[in-house]
Amino acid sequence: MTNLSDYIYDLCQNSIHAKANTIILTLSLSNVLTIIIQDDGIGMDQEALDKVTNFNYTTNKNRSVGLGLSMIYDLVNQTEGSFELKSKKDHGTTLRLTFNHQHIDFPKFGNFGSIISDLYMYEDLTNIRLYIKNGQFYMFDLKQILSKEKTVGIKKYIEENINQKLRNIGVDI
Ligand SMILES: Nc1ncnc2c1ncn2[C@@H]1O[C@H](COP(=O)(O)OP(=O)(O)OP(=O)(O)O)[C@@H](O)[C@H]1O
Ligand SMILES: [Mg+2]
Repeated sequence: MTNLSDYIYDLCQNSIHAKANTIILTLSLSNVLTIIIQDDGIGMDQEALDKVTNFNYTTNKNRSVGLGLSMIYDLVNQTEGSFELKSKKDHGTTLRLTFNHQHIDFPKFGNFGSIISDLYMYEDLTNIRLYIKNGQFYMFDLKQILSKEKTVGIKKYIEENINQKLRNIGVDI
């Protein structure tokens, strides 16, 4: 079964395809899990946004309909959560998702740290910020290390560090 991190990685690919330089990911855990993916990519006009949220639209040349957003929409509904997509042409896109993470259909969290460490390897992303919140609050700003030469060692460090912070707030990875 696909884990939540795979879905999120797929959604971050949308931001990369939209030529984003910055991705801001917020993960907030309370009685619900909230995930926000915000980018500064090319965005969508109202017409495209309407089509996308009717799930009959893609700019992917290999398919006739997109799968990423419709799959997360299904998952959100299965777990009694919410889905909100906002976008402005030439400004960027924000996707806000909530999940009932106690729900029986909620997937495993998966290796979330590896998503961020994979994004770190993308040349065009000059800024990645990750907020992890519950009672405690963590913020990772990868801007500094993104401007330096990329190494597998740093990639591994990012992955482990983020997964440890998630375990600290009680996420079952
Ligand atoms: N962050 C974003 N910025 C701009 N456009 C977006 C963004 N996310 C989605 N879109 C638009 O919505 C369409 C549908 O997205 P969706 O993820 O459902 O499918 P896809 O990316 O086209 O294909 P797949 O995910 O199956 O590879 C995209 O083709 C793109 O035009
Ligand atoms: Mg997609």
